[in-house]
Amino acid sequence: MTDHPSNPAPVVVIGAGLAGLAVALHLAQTRPVVVLAKRELGEGATPWAQGGIVGVLGDDDSIDSHVRDTQDAGAGLVDEHAARFIAERSAQAVAWLVELGVPFSPDPAGPLGLHLAREGGHAVRRIAHAADATGKAIHDALLARAQAHPNITLRQRWMAVDVITSRHLQRDEAPRCYGVYALDMDSQRVETLPAVAVVLATGGVGKVYRYTSNPDTATGDGMAMAWRAGCRVANMEFIQFHPTCLYHPQERTLLITEALRGEGAVLRLPGMSGDDGRFMAAHDPRGELAPRDIVARAIDFEMKKHGLDHVWLDATHLGENFLKSHFPTIHARCAALGIDIASQPIPVVPAAHYACGGVVTDLDGRTDLPGLYAVGETSYTGLHGANRLASNSLLECVVLGRTCADHILGSAPAAVQALPHWDESQVEDADEQVVISHNWDELRLLMWNYVGIVRTTKRLQRARHRIKLLQSEIDDYYANFRVNRDLLELRNLVDCAKLIVRSALMRTESRGLHYSRDYPDTLPVSFPTVLLRRRRRT
Ligand code: FAD
Ligand code: SIN
Repeated sequence: MTDHPSNPAPVVVIGAGLAGLAVALHLAQTRPVVVLAKRELGEGATPWAQGGIVGVLGDDDSIDSHVRDTQDAGAGLVDEHAARFIAERSAQAVAWLVELGVPFSPDPAGPLGLHLAREGGHAVRRIAHAADATGKAIHDALLARAQAHPNITLRQRWMAVDVITSRHLQRDEAPRCYGVYALDMDSQRVETLPAVAVVLATGGVGKVYRYTSNPDTATGDGMAMAWRAGCRVANMEFIQFHPTCLYHPQERTLLITEALRGEGAVLRLPGMSGDDGRFMAAHDPRGELAPRDIVARAIDFEMKKHGLDHVWLDATHLGENFLKSHFPTIHARCAALGIDIASQPIPVVPAAHYACGGVVTDLDGRTDLPGLYAVGETSYTGLHGANRLASNSLLECVVLGRTCADHILGSAPAAVQALPHWDESQVEDADEQVVISHNWDELRLLMWNYVGIVRTTKRLQRARHRIKLLQSEIDDYYANFRVNRDLLELRNLVDCAKLIVRSALMRTESRGLHYSRDYPDTLPVSFPTVLLRRRRRT
């Protein structure tokens, strides 16, 4: 058991991306906060974000217009209250980031002095951005603040294994979250961290697919931990595939921002020039600026129809000066791979990008378990519905980061319990680590092949069967061997894969990001797919 500390226990925030840092910076005004990051502090989806963050700022814009665009993209499953709540706080969110020193691209004539870009599904220009590296600009500014804050302790290379609940106390306590078990990667020991509240801010689950725009951190840890702790998860079938990731043998994860299409870049079939090879108008009247689910499905359709490895994204007509000044990162990274985007089209394919579902929370980030919160991509607030509108994710992190912190600050701190230590008495070192990497590869490939952009019931059932086998092997491994990061991530990925497939099988229609050949129609009325773990009797 841990000792009762004389100082109040901190709030433990799991994740140092935008969601985690936003929560921590608000909380730290009055509370000690410990922030965990399972890899280096600079790793995560946030620093990779390109296009920008929504701000309803322009004279030509309105809350209603943004809510409408969010709903249109979300294909009937957006919670209007959540969308309005978040849109109404978008100007304040962008202003807060400006105050913290985020160097957004300026426009002296623009609102707040900012240049606003446009992306697919948006009726107007409303994306605040720092050229094409918005996430890094935001993350650098917030991380510097957090590092300088006396109330914030940042622990990199600490991986949360599971949240500690009443079940671990083996006493007849009301359900609650009391802390976290976390693996310190340097000592390879699992430590017990008591907490007055725990915030899951662990990001998405893109690594469950073979091809993804996501960084290595995106293994669905928060979703899996919350699920194992008895919380509901919702809408897991709605995995967003970004239409335009670079297709290149040396670079598997470079996103080519939608903002490029916002400025006029067009999609084209290889081998054709002029307007001949353009195909988007045949799929949607909004062409290249249709919402992502439509563009990704159109590319998938054309690639399969013509037997192609990729399509072209052509920005050559925008000119070298414009491309270099507005998209310097993409220009430089493509140039390093031998592609001059000012004179050559860019080979692109869709890849897994964003989890629209996640841990069910209210607009204060509260999950079903008292003391446990979830914010950012790991959460499900109802904002994204069946397909997220571009640049709404960073906005949700900032807005909910604040409301979550406010809720924790306004709650009476729970008495900290003496918590049981992690028990390693029954385990030994793994005999064959390679089994874990084989299972990783198998899982990611089967998800890509059977649970991709276009689905069928038969393929989903096949996936379910294979995932079940993988899960029993991994459970066996987990029960008998000392844990390490690869094993923990694989365990989380398998839990999430199971939830994605279960949700996809439950949805007997096609809607937003879920397209089933067996159920091509959209039902007149539809609901989120909410899953709750069946509790075992003890
Ligand atoms: P992340 O930023 O991914 O942070 C997760 C953190 O959790 C990391 O610190 C990680 O180490 C930590 N972590 C995870 N598991 C554990 C664990 N078990 N223990 C301890 N720590 C853990 N959205 C937009 O709105 N606009 C954009 O322009 C945009 N562009 C994008 C471009 C790319 C290439 C990608 C991949 C995404 C983009 N998105 C964009 C989506 C957006 O970036 C993410 O949804 C958002 O940054 C998620 O923030 P987060 O804080 O929830 O998670
Ligand atoms: C992009 O820049 O295309 C990504 C934007 C997003 O994911 O919201």
